[in-house]
Amino acid sequence: MAGTRIIATGSHVPDRVVTNVDLEELMDTSDEWIQQRTGVKERRWVPEGREIGGSDLAKVATERALKKAELEEGDIDAIIYATLSPDHMFPGAACFLQQKLGLKGIAALDIRNQCSGFLYGLSIADAWIRTGAYERVLLVGAEVHSTGLDISTRGRDVSVIFGDGAGAVLLGPTDKNGDGVLGVTLGADGRYAKDLWVDVPGSIYHPQCDPAHMTEGRQYPQMEGSKVFKHAVVKMPGAVRRVLGDAGLGTEDIRLLIPHQANLRITEMVQQGLRLRDDQVFSNIHKYGNTTAASIPLALDEALSEGRLERGDLLVLAAFGAGFTWGAAAIRY
Ligand code: COA
Repeated sequence: MAGTRIIATGSHVPDRVVTNVDLEELMDTSDEWIQQRTGVKERRWVPEGREIGGSDLAKVATERALKKAELEEGDIDAIIYATLSPDHMFPGAACFLQQKLGLKGIAALDIRNQCSGFLYGLSIADAWIRTGAYERVLLVGAEVHSTGLDISTRGRDVSVIFGDGAGAVLLGPTDKNGDGVLGVTLGADGRYAKDLWVDVPGSIYHPQCDPAHMTEGRQYPQMEGSKVFKHAVVKMPGAVRRVLGDAGLGTEDIRLLIPHQANLRITEMVQQGLRLRDDQVFSNIHKYGNTTAASIPLALDEALSEGRLERGDLLVLAAFGAGFTWGAAAIRY
């Protein structure tokens, strides 16, 4: 098989819109601060008091992708599910999604690489398809952050950024040379693991989470925001240049760059670093916030529905996030 192509995409976000003004009621923050520092105007959060997991959002996103592809659940040969907010500690969320899609027996893999999870998953899906291990792979990114955020003033630097959502991409083989996934580059640097992380529950503790942990707020994400920022604006352009160089292409060949929607200022600096025009870069962070592993497939589905990409165009994806991890992909759509 020559390679891996995108068959179709789908996405889904909860109906509940949470604006920056809504957050002003919960913590000491302001619409102006959030928009200036992050570009986020609103995000979607699952409704309170209902047990809705990322796998529920992923199910709807998958159904939408299948409908566009005129395929059925039974046409999926394997599931790769990228998330940092699995429905439960174990088993992986891919198993819950498999059950919700009514599929039995097919491979179901979770990827725990946070904001870069979709690209790590893409690399695996590409290898599976190229080697003929599986023909049609469902790659999803799905997150429910809202149930795990500190929505008091203590957690405001993190909680204003993140939103819930899911994106699904159906991948399959292509015989055409130079079509589909041209390359994926991945990286990580564990020296920065504790600069964006959640401490508990953790199996290094006995018990994994206790009331003292909870009082200290160690069950909530902690972030060294400026460190994340500085690394993101270097690693993402670097990964893009590398994946393009490996494919014998340059930034001028890019029709659309979809960076992980971390923060609008990060996206703008990546754009400047790569000297790209506005029409070459996609952003929807103002509507959804940062949805980590879901952000790239959610943005891709929206970009396609807006007609920002035609078959044959060069699509580039780039991500950076906790770990630190990063990556980029070049895809002849
Ligand atoms: N509302 C109002 N004020 C806030 C706030 C909020 N939601 N969050 C933090 N502040 C305050 C801080 O307490 C600080 O106050 P002080 O000066 O009195 O101490 C002030 O704003 C500035 O904080 P600082 O952390 O220096 O701001 P910043 O310019 O670095 O912006 C981030 C903070 C988080 C927006 C920025 O670091 C960032 O975007 N980092 C990358 C984050 C990211 O993209 N993460 C996802 C990666 S995948």
